[in-house]
Amino acid sequence: MSRSADSSATESVIRCRFLVVGSGIAGLWTALHLAPFGDVTVITKGQLRDTNTQYAQGGIAVALPAGDSPELHRLDTLRAGAGLCDEPAVSVLTGEGPDIVRELIARGAYFDRRDGELLFGREAAHGRSRILHAHGDATGAEVQRTASEVVRELPGVTLHEATGAAELLLHGGQCLGVEAVDFARGERVRFVADCTVLATGGAGEIWRYTTNPPVATADGPALAWRAGVCLRDMEFVQFHPTALCAPGYPKFLISEAVRGEGARLVDGKGRRFMLDYHPDAELAPRDVVARAIFTEMQQAGAPCMYLDFSPIGADRLRRRFPGIVGELEKRGFDPFHQPIPISPAAHYMMGGITADLHGLTGLPRLFACGECADYGVHGANRLASNSLLDGLVFGNRTAQAMAEMDPLPESLARAAEELPALPLRVLEAEAKATIQDLAWENIGIVRDRPGLTRAREELADLARRIRQEPTATLPELEAANMCQVAWLTATAALVREESRGAHFRSDFPQTREEWRRHILLRQVEGQLEITYQPVILERPA
Ligand code: SIN
Repeated sequence: MSRSADSSATESVIRCRFLVVGSGIAGLWTALHLAPFGDVTVITKGQLRDTNTQYAQGGIAVALPAGDSPELHRLDTLRAGAGLCDEPAVSVLTGEGPDIVRELIARGAYFDRRDGELLFGREAAHGRSRILHAHGDATGAEVQRTASEVVRELPGVTLHEATGAAELLLHGGQCLGVEAVDFARGERVRFVADCTVLATGGAGEIWRYTTNPPVATADGPALAWRAGVCLRDMEFVQFHPTALCAPGYPKFLISEAVRGEGARLVDGKGRRFMLDYHPDAELAPRDVVARAIFTEMQQAGAPCMYLDFSPIGADRLRRRFPGIVGELEKRGFDPFHQPIPISPAAHYMMGGITADLHGLTGLPRLFACGECADYGVHGANRLASNSLLDGLVFGNRTAQAMAEMDPLPESLARAAEELPALPLRVLEAEAKATIQDLAWENIGIVRDRPGLTRAREELADLARRIRQEPTATLPELEAANMCQVAWLTATAALVREESRGAHFRSDFPQTREEWRRHILLRQVEGQLEITYQPVILERPA
């Protein structure tokens, strides 16, 4: 790795073999698997732990318990995906899951055990109890801790915190790294890399209510879109049914595992309503539960419904969910004696940057993995607790493929170093609130043509205010990314004239076989191109 100053652009240039953008489990797992093959540079716009991974409560779904199998896990994943999962991706996820989780444990991750044996919880739409959890409900924090500690100790890995990727660096039809901003020093930095992986996580901040931390601003898909890379299935956004709903408090996730242990959803009068919607009641697929809550709220004109923890029992509740109980008590709620107000909130982006089963995108030398990527594994609706597993399995595969990439020819690397400084796309930070309101009202749990059209038009108006500047603050970069990806989400949601998985159109409430296909969006010479791709139904040989 070399560091030099490009005086013409007052921009530092850092050369690296492998560049990883993002420090959640997908990014760090890719980094640690790349380390034996050459120097690895990880950049992350906040601190290492400012990730969605850190906040995952429920756990990691994996076919490790006796009597379970990758095949049963595969079938549950396909069922949740509502006909839009690509079979080979699901087979990879569930088939490679057990070994990769064993590796995670061997690298120091602790998961809850009884008498030395791993404990497995139950979550909605899983036919088996197969969810590993840590410290009750702090699984993501444990996974993030483990990966962060391992990566920090690897001599070949360099971490740049407070460093955000602003644009992909393109030359000769390839991705040669990223144009970034070091926010701590207030400087532009260019990372020139043999290959780059986007592992930037989710997009929850686009919606007014989300379970995600503020860093989830759709950065990876926005960068890829501007570089002409295909995005796929952007209309599929999962809304988690149960986020704490209390004025004055940011949304706080209340894990699905709470319902897995017996908690019930009730209305303001204490009536259990989920049995009216699905035979699996509280353990129905996530989209069914979220829509049922939304419907009940609308019918009652109420701001929330309630989660009754009492069937779990006080001892078990405190032992199994210490984090959730502690957070609720800190905010003045008593889950032992009162139902807790909840409502749905944006949680997970199923679509993303189109990538193959080794994370390779359509742009040479650019990879993507984790929540920002779409290799067809989650379909129209992600099965609970499959996301940490996705980051591990596909992080590992992406690293294998990146390790095999030839280094950049020296002439190309030099050309990348000498390119003029790219302008940065910025939008005033105040626009975030407008985007969040537009998305919540119109690209939310229940959608229709008038709302989607309105959102699309207003987001397009807002996008016209995106400026190109030599410098940017982080909120300005994020606002531009959110605006573009919100517009793409509204576009795909408008195109898909059916309801499937997490995408519900009140004007097209049925699932339609002719829509069993992926929607791909790409920017070609400044214009939106929409194409379709069949779902891959065959299992790999
Ligand atoms: C939860 O704990 O309910 C979230 C788990 C997930 O989204 O996979």
